[in-house]
Amino acid sequence: MIKKFVGKPLSVLLCAAIVLSCSVFSGSAAKPQWDEYWDDYSQKGEALYMSPGSDETSRGFSWYSPSCSGKCFVEVSTSPDMSGAIKFPGEFVKAGDADRRNRVTVSGLSLGTEYYYRCGIGSVYSDIYSFRTLSSGSEDFSLFYTTDIHITESSEDEYAIRDFSYNLDTTLNAALERREDLALVLSGGDQASYGLVSEYIGLVASPVFRSIPFATTIGNHDRKAPTYKHFKHVPNEYKNYITSSYIGSDYWFVMGDVLFLMLDTNNPSAEDHRNFVKKAVAENPDVYWRVAVFHHDLYGGRIPKREQENGLLRMLLTPIMDEFKVDLALMGHSHFYTISNVMFNDKTVLPTAELDSVDNPAGTIYMVSGSINRPRIETGGEAPPLGEHIGKSYLTEEKIYNIIDFTDDSIAIHSYTLESGEEFESFTISKTSNDGGHPDSRPGFKDTIVRYISVLVGIFNNLGRTLDYLKDYLTKTFNF
Ligand SMILES: [Fe+2]
Repeated sequence: MIKKFVGKPLSVLLCAAIVLSCSVFSGSAAKPQWDEYWDDYSQKGEALYMSPGSDETSRGFSWYSPSCSGKCFVEVSTSPDMSGAIKFPGEFVKAGDADRRNRVTVSGLSLGTEYYYRCGIGSVYSDIYSFRTLSSGSEDFSLFYTTDIHITESSEDEYAIRDFSYNLDTTLNAALERREDLALVLSGGDQASYGLVSEYIGLVASPVFRSIPFATTIGNHDRKAPTYKHFKHVPNEYKNYITSSYIGSDYWFVMGDVLFLMLDTNNPSAEDHRNFVKKAVAENPDVYWRVAVFHHDLYGGRIPKREQENGLLRMLLTPIMDEFKVDLALMGHSHFYTISNVMFNDKTVLPTAELDSVDNPAGTIYMVSGSINRPRIETGGEAPPLGEHIGKSYLTEEKIYNIIDFTDDSIAIHSYTLESGEEFESFTISKTSNDGGHPDSRPGFKDTIVRYISVLVGIFNNLGRTLDYLKDYLTKTFNF
């Protein structure tokens, strides 16, 4: 089990002495090696990870530490011995049980460069880690896409977090064997099952997260507690909400020639999501590809009891994907792997079942990946029903991961299972101009009314959840 940080007086002393070291191994660890690593890693409980910056010239770094008054910083150098290092100061936020979360943004990085960095508080430094920025002018890069990682604390299994983290590390390393230069790890929400600090510490246990930027969006499970709010460190966070989910947020970043639009779909307010996307696209008008990432599965259809919710979300979100000509939407929530038909105006414009590629598609492809730690298959001997707009699906209890390759004119999705090591799906989207085959679309009167109503729903929904957090806090603090 992860040990909690000690109380305040001692923690102040510890803060001066904390060293962010990890016994880093290269490649996939054997289980006994991982268990040994885990004991050391989890006791420190820092959960240091690197997140994307606004673009390749910047990066974010964040980690937990006990409360103290020491200033946090990251030093960056092009030399392994840290000579000529530049120091970037950061800030911290109160982080509940973990005391404080330190956040530093490093900027002014050169492209195509290997960097070395170390984190610090006061006069004490961490170990030295490294990362590499994309080459100048490079539009070719590969990312790892997963969703519903579900690191889970369990009262019945004290090693659950350790073992779930191992599954993630093993899957990441399987992907790295296929693409050693992976530039990004992308996750579609439900990183944690109960939103606990211990689960987020487990989430970034893999040493991969010290060297490859990790971008997450918030799932419904991440919202079960306030932890995600301070765990995340994201660029270009949208601030002008009419109403927000309090814990998550919309944000964007650019990698290569791709604009990533990260949406918090726990917040039903489509007016806010539209305003965010409009602003992000306006600030990046020449970026070639647009990829949206959000948690809720819109078209999968495999969980009939969610279809009412899915129908509402389709009304709220698909007009935004159409209006801003999003090429690919990556989602999760259902834990069922699917790739949709080419969709526009909530209708199929091109079935994909018999295709392995689409050129200048006149709409958006919606994709959901399976879960590494909570895979789902058919129940009762029958495959659950599939949505009518789904072109490709895959049912398995194995761990699914995806590598998505971007070039100047294509997005190629490659999907694998960890256990078999086989590629079970390969699908490519190509286009010859920024807009590709997307028709122009403006929200109609009905869309506008629905968006305004969604603001009201969002206010009540978000207020209700905030009151739940307050109730939990008061119960815990004053034993009500
Ligand atoms: Fe989930």
